[in-house]
Amino acid sequence: MSADDQQTNIDDLLLENRKFPPSAAFKKNSLAVGTHLYDQAAADDEGFWAQQASELIDWDQDWHTICEWNVPYAKWFVGGKLNVSYNCLDRHVLAGNGDKVAIHWEGEPGDTRTITYSELLVEVEKFSNVLKSLGVVKGDRVNIYLPMIPEAAVAMLSCARIGAAHSVVFGGFSSQALADRINDAEAKVLITADGGYRRGEVFELKPAADEAIASTPTIEHVVVVKRGGNKVNMVAGRDHWYHELMATASDNCPAEPMDSEQLLFLLYTSGTTGKPKGIMHTTGGYLTHVTYTHKYVFDLHPESDVYWCTADVGWITGHSYIVYGPLSNGATQVIYEGVPNYPANDRLWSIVEKYGVTIFYTAPTAIRTFMKWGDDEPAKHDMSTLRLLGSVGEPINPEAWMWYRDTIGRGECPVVDTWWQTETGGIMISPLPGATTLKPGSATFPIPGISAEVVDDAGHRVDHGGGYLTLTRPWPGMLRGIWNDPERYQETYWSRFEGRYFAGDGAKLDSEGYLWLLGRVDDVMNISGHRISTTEVESALVSHPAVAEAAVVGANDPTTGQAIIAYVTLRGGYEADETELRNHVAKEIGAIAKPKMIYFTPELPKTRSGKIMRRLLRDVAEGRNLGDTTTLADASVVNELQKRAAEAPSED
Ligand code: WT7
Repeated sequence: MSADDQQTNIDDLLLENRKFPPSAAFKKNSLAVGTHLYDQAAADDEGFWAQQASELIDWDQDWHTICEWNVPYAKWFVGGKLNVSYNCLDRHVLAGNGDKVAIHWEGEPGDTRTITYSELLVEVEKFSNVLKSLGVVKGDRVNIYLPMIPEAAVAMLSCARIGAAHSVVFGGFSSQALADRINDAEAKVLITADGGYRRGEVFELKPAADEAIASTPTIEHVVVVKRGGNKVNMVAGRDHWYHELMATASDNCPAEPMDSEQLLFLLYTSGTTGKPKGIMHTTGGYLTHVTYTHKYVFDLHPESDVYWCTADVGWITGHSYIVYGPLSNGATQVIYEGVPNYPANDRLWSIVEKYGVTIFYTAPTAIRTFMKWGDDEPAKHDMSTLRLLGSVGEPINPEAWMWYRDTIGRGECPVVDTWWQTETGGIMISPLPGATTLKPGSATFPIPGISAEVVDDAGHRVDHGGGYLTLTRPWPGMLRGIWNDPERYQETYWSRFEGRYFAGDGAKLDSEGYLWLLGRVDDVMNISGHRISTTEVESALVSHPAVAEAAVVGANDPTTGQAIIAYVTLRGGYEADETELRNHVAKEIGAIAKPKMIYFTPELPKTRSGKIMRRLLRDVAEGRNLGDTTTLADASVVNELQKRAAEAPSED
């Protein structure tokens, strides 16, 4: 890259040379080996998606047009009719797999439920009738505010069955966040619980729901699942116990064929600032996308695999890769209610052992936390059933990737780093584990059917080096818009680069065409005119044996424009050594990326979905009052850092 380009593009600093081709043993039974899916999709992407739609999904009526594309609006499988709940349940029962376990559910206190496909279907038919009896009709919105209990999946599938759109709000969100989302969607019914379990205690949901409903005029009925056992206040005529309604509901509710473009759900994404956006997802294209990716990215063998995704159903990962993808594929999966460190730091590994989990999908933030807890925890359990590991949510640092593969995956399991967004609906950039040679920290290539390009500031394609990640063709799972806000849809995703979807992420291509995600472009730092990605500096820090986790931000600096400030969490047993770490970064990626100051902290501030909140750290570093902290998972972390920043000696 020439010196001139450095003003406008993101620098490419980190070099990672390790490579892991798929093993012969993995390839032997893998669904996708070699390049045939890539070749087929490259020749005709729409034809490729149409083939997936007809192979993987049952349709009640064929579509007449594969894709109608009027930038930025896409429609997929136009004219086709299908029912998502039928595809996730009835067809498996009809095929003779009714007794197959759909869900091994593990409550945090240790109670369990085993639910077969037949049982899940009965539950969904009944609850669909319950919703109808409460006046819910096709086209209505239903809000869901539940802990991680099977009823969350039942509620979602029941909405899908009758054509109501669900809007799930993560159970950790406040009553205000819930009220805002209910009001934006104008939902008629709210499904909640008395409470759920978290870290050994009951957290109350119904009181928060009550507070929300006080300001949501559209809610007519509230259905309450009994889980926490905490005392709740039930308003006669408005509030109903789930188990009471279900006791008298008929278990016959045939699935109604829906239009391929029928609204399936809204899911609100807050981003880092501004009013949450109600991301719209529809029926046929979405189901095709998640079924296809869940099958090929996870190399799913439904007859033998036990799949486990640790996300919450309140996030898109829970929608696409707990509810819709796995159930559409007839998989057997584990759902866990609670936190990873209750009663002890090995809880997840005890669950892997107990159910014989073969495919495990989690987030980098969790992986780095496991690293911090040490290798002894997984070593307590026999995890030899694991054969594939996945990562999603943030860039995974090469050292965290290596730890995941070696310590959780015995050095044998492929790690699929899957890049996608709430907006994309399903996985977009990821290896196919039997076909792709992996590089630690790289999401590798767009999956077959997806077209991505890295561009510079002017929107010109970059073939090597850093820039902005864009998507160049419509895809079946793409968002159809932002609820009630078409201008914001156009503005946020389609105005930065003409005719391209702008994801908001930085990315680079290496000399072999591998894609490396560099974090949100809002977080990119500018040091003396060099555009440096947070991800690369963080990965350099995490590659030091003492470091478990790191966050860096660019803070205003009179000399260099911005200066790199790092926040570091150490692994157990290591001492803080600022000079050593600064030199390590200089050695790994260059002196320009050396942090000016390093703060050591036992925790980093994160959103409730586990993403590091760099915006807050920037506020702290620049001594500003904190803006919006409502999405912060643990506010005490930031208070502590602020105190220390105020006490830190100034270097100037
Ligand atoms: C943003 C989307 C996709 C489900 C969970 C998050 C970041 C996601 C990766 C990855 C690097 C990633 C991006 C993206 N992200 N996966 N594998 N490598 N970054 O969904 O809350 O909509 O967030 O998460 O910045 O834009 P989301």
